[in-house]
Order: sequence, then C-alpha cells, then structure tokens
Amino acid sequence: NPSLVPNNGLSSVIRKKLMGYVGFANLPNQVHRKSVRKGFQFTAMVVGESGLGKSTLINTLFNTTLYPPKEPLPPAAERPKTVAIESIGADIEENGVRLHLTVVDTPGFGDFVNNDDSWKPIVENIESRFDSYLEQENRVNRMKVVDNRVHACLYFIQPTGHSLKEIDIEFMRRLHTKVNLIPVIAKADTMTDEEIADFKERILSDIAHHNIHIFQAPTYENEDEETIAEAEEIASKIPFAVVGSDKAVVTPDGREVRGRAYPWGVVEVDNEEHCDFVKLRQMLVRTYMEELREYTNDVLYENWRTEKLMGMGVAQDSSVFKEINPAARMQEERVLHEAKLAKMEAEMKMVFQQKVQEKEAKLKQSEEELYARHKEMKDALEKQRADLEEKKKKIESGRPITPEKNTTGRRKGFLRT
Ligand code: GTP
Repeated sequence: NPSLVPNNGLSSVIRKKLMGYVGFANLPNQVHRKSVRKGFQFTAMVVGESGLGKSTLINTLFNTTLYPPKEPLPPAAERPKTVAIESIGADIEENGVRLHLTVVDTPGFGDFVNNDDSWKPIVENIESRFDSYLEQENRVNRMKVVDNRVHACLYFIQPTGHSLKEIDIEFMRRLHTKVNLIPVIAKADTMTDEEIADFKERILSDIAHHNIHIFQAPTYENEDEETIAEAEEIASKIPFAVVGSDKAVVTPDGREVRGRAYPWGVVEVDNEEHCDFVKLRQMLVRTYMEELREYTNDVLYENWRTEKLMGMGVAQDSSVFKEINPAARMQEERVLHEAKLAKMEAEMKMVFQQKVQEKEAKLKQSEEELYARHKEMKDALEKQRADLEEKKKKIESGRPITPEKNTTGRRKGFLRT
C-alpha cells in the first residue's frame, strides 16, 4: 500500500511496493562493471631512511617485483645531496580488475648529515601533482583526467624502540595536511612484542602531542557491527609494525610462506600473530583504498586548492576564481539570472500596482462628481419644493403672487385664483 511520508512540509515521498522486477537493483553492478572496465589509479608514496625495507614492503604488499633488486648504496661522499623523487608505475590485474599502481620513492630522505629540509622536495612533489590535477580539471575537455595525486604515504619509522626522531616529526608535521599519512614501524622482526607495544605507545603520544593527523579508517552512521569492529581493529594496530619479504621460506612444520627465516624460527609476513602486515594491507588495499582516494580528493586536495587560490589573492567569489573554476562560474551565472528574473517580477508588480491605483483614483473621482451632481440636483429640487410651498401658502392666504425669476431665469406669470 502506498504511504505518504511528509518531508518537512516541502514535498512528500510516496513509498510504493513494486509489482515485479524493474531492474534498478542492478545499479551497483552497473557501477561495478564500469569501474572494472575503466580500471583504477592509485599512487602510494614511500618515505623513510635508506635500508628500512621500503622496496621490499611494496613488493610484498602487491605481491609483485615492482622493485627489482637494488645495487648497494654508494659511499656517502658519492651520493646525491638532495632527496630524489622517483616513481615506478605498473599495471596489475586481479580477477579481471585492473589497477594502475604508481609508487613514488624518495631515495636520500634522512641520509644526509643535515636533514633539515628533507621534507621540502617531497612537499613540492605532492603539490606539483595537485597542480597538474587542477590544470586538467580546468581544461575544456575533462574526459581523460589522469589522477596522479598521492593517495597514501607510508612513512617508515626506524625500529629504534625510543621515540620519534626530530626528522620524523618534522616530516609528518609538514605533510599531514597534504597526504594521507600511514606510519609504519619498519623491520618489526628486530624487536620483541613488548618493545613494539611500548614503542607504538610512545609514537602515538608524540603524534598526538604535535597535533599530527594520521589517516584513520572511517566509520559511518548506520554501519554494521562487523565493519565497525574491523575499523577499530585496524585502528588499534596503528602504527603498523611490519615485516617485509618477497621470498618464500619453509616453516619448521613444512609450510611454504612469505617470511624471514632465522636460526630460531620463521617470521611469517602474512601471520597476524607475527606482525601487522595483514592489517596494513587491509587498510591500504583491501578495504580502504577507495576511502584513501576519496579523502585525498574531497579533503586534502580541496583544502590545498582553496588555500592556493586564496594565496593568489583570489577570494572564492572573485572573477579569477570563477575563471579558474567553471562550476563556480556557472553558479554565479545562475545567481545573476535568478536576480534578473526577480527584478523583472518586482518591476511588473510595481507597474500593476500603479495601474490599479490610477484606476482606483479615477473611480473615486467619478464617484465624487456623481455625488456632487446628485447633491446639486437634490438641492435644486429642495429649493423648487420650498418655492412651491411658499406660493401655495400665499395663494391660500389670498395675496397676489409677485412675479419672480425662477431658477432657470424665466419670468413666472401670475397665478390666477
Ligand atoms: P633504499 O632503497 O636504499 O631506500 O632501501 P629500502 O628502504 O627500499 O630497503 P630494501 O627494501 O631495499 O631493504 C633493505 C634491506 O633490508 C634488504 O636486505 C632487505 O632484505 C632487508 N629487509 C627488508 N624488509 C625487512 C624486514 O621487514 N625485516 C628485516 N629484518 N629486514 C628487512
């Protein structure tokens, strides 16, 4: 039965039961098919001192040799003096879903005697990617927008067991408003469980102390309990203590796993009892890749764009901003058009009111004229009646009637008795 649901008094929603299958329930599948056909773009950045296992972890995460085995680092004197930015792209496919993955590496970060400005080239790189996206957005043909923005930044923390170093804090402070930060404790197999727990606590308190925002798995209203529990579980592992290995090793019980073999046993990468790799993969790839992309677009990029335009001395509603932003221009045109319509309507109302007033005044005037004429005629009749009364009295008393001018100016004759 259709039921009428009032909606703030503005409109009403009629809920109807379908009599049969119409087909819009297939919309999610249509979206899915389209997305699969188009493929996905994802860009991850890895930052951390040399040798912390960044390349190995990326290879482990995407289960591919994205990074070929590296040459050992040249002696310090021969290394470049600035942080270089290198990106590697790869098209990977899983169950028919294509992902264009780009990994941005930052060799040299933290490797100098003076690392004060190590964060600078990285911020510049992230911003230049925002710039290139903004430029594509403003093109007339926006059909083929390539999203090269960095969607997540894995920040590798040295497994010192102390607390964050100056360079870690400085980097995160400079970057947290521009990129989704995901801190990881590198080479966690070099620490005991207890050391890791203490270290995590210290890192989190440093992060909170410096008001650094790190990416959190989002939860929404009306989310089911399972999803909320999953998000909480992931959040409880941050910063992820990870172990990377792209090599298969055999466990003492004969299983072939990805891990690192030690004389005392095997550390398994995919075993949640051994490290947080599985949870990191869940956050970065399996559950929240789309959220990372969305947050980058809706919050980080949007804030950067607004700030950039403001920095150019362009307020959101000024003409330059509209020139840059077609949506804002359209919005302004709509507002102007509406204002024009409202003005026309007001003018028409005024003219109408004027006409009505004029008509009313004319009617009043003719009414007054009519009334005056009526009064004049009434007075004349009154006077005639009084005259006649007078004459009657005189006749009755036997006196002759003196001729007099009547109101029309003619002489009246004697009345004979
Ligand atoms: P750069 O490219 O020089 O910046 O180094 P990187 O951070 O990419 O490190 P890479 O992945 O090349 O690993 C450096 C060394 O650490 C290699 O010998 C790896 O086998 C080793 N390694 C990588 N991950 C781990 C880990 O989780 N635990 C331990 N113990 N060693 C690791």
